[in-house]
Amino acid sequence: MTIPDFFEQDRTTVEAALQELLPPEDALPITIHQAMRYSVFAGGKRVRPILCMEAARMFSQEQNGAVQVGCALEFIHTYSLIHDDLPALDNDDLRRGKPTNHKVFGEAMAILAGDALLTLAFHSLALAPVEPQRRLTILAMIAEAAGTDRGMIGGQVADLEAAGKAPDKGMLEYIHRSKTAALIRASIVAGAIAGGADRGDVTRLLAFGESIGWAFQVVDDILDVEESSAALGKTAGKDQAQKKATYPALHGLEVSRDIAADLEAKALRELDFYGERAGRLRALAQFLVARRA
Ligand code: IPE
Ligand code: IPE
Ligand code: MG
Ligand code: MG
Ligand code: MG
Repeated sequence: MTIPDFFEQDRTTVEAALQELLPPEDALPITIHQAMRYSVFAGGKRVRPILCMEAARMFSQEQNGAVQVGCALEFIHTYSLIHDDLPALDNDDLRRGKPTNHKVFGEAMAILAGDALLTLAFHSLALAPVEPQRRLTILAMIAEAAGTDRGMIGGQVADLEAAGKAPDKGMLEYIHRSKTAALIRASIVAGAIAGGADRGDVTRLLAFGESIGWAFQVVDDILDVEESSAALGKTAGKDQAQKKATYPALHGLEVSRDIAADLEAKALRELDFYGERAGRLRALAQFLVARRA
């Protein structure tokens, strides 16, 4: 199952823009730029930039800076993966079908490559060709989504602290909504704002992004149980081995699948308002839940 064909063009656009925004591999100091490029170009799905670009397209067909905003989101996401894989966190050897960053470049360089991608993300956002007031709103929203208060880092902290303990429904919700849904929701809303969305649109797309981002992490948990490392490009079966707080651990696979389907349906209802205009976003949302990797 791959991203719907009509996003191939967007993926190509994202790859080219990421190339442009990253310092070249021979820029000094060479090692850090190699390490950054290694993980960015290891083969991610590019879900966040594609969501961002499609949300922008719903409001404007003009050039609106959503590609650059999407690249910043991909830099933040890739930094989060490099750090998530470190021995001090999930201690993973495989990512995007390749050895993890610290396995190739060492832990010190992997930490710095993550820091550098996060820094580059905000540099890219500051310079993105989006109307200045909208750019500032986007920048603050993404910072919040990547941060500690119900953002990605907060979720990662709760994920680490919940490991090995009896799973608790409320804590599980908090972890998934913070570590994963926050950045996915921000990707959609950032694109919409870049494209010219109004307040009503932002409210609807926040709700859509929250539910689909939450479903995305429930599916990630399910795939960790059901799929192979070869299919996922990352180590399968790790959550159980590390006693992580996951949906399958608390509810079992079948109920977890139902929860993902309910969240998907809830997300899609938020798009009813847009009719055909949201056709591609709807297809993308369905892919995020039906995917097998
Ligand atoms: C994996 O994200 C980590 C989670 C937040 C669940 P993706 O499934 O989007 O990973 P890539 O970017 O395709 O490698
Ligand atoms: C990580 O969740 C989410 C991030 C913010 C990186 P996981 O630890 O489940 O992600 P994978 O399965 O390693 O990709
Ligand atoms: Mg993790
Ligand atoms: Mg992990
Ligand atoms: Mg996982």
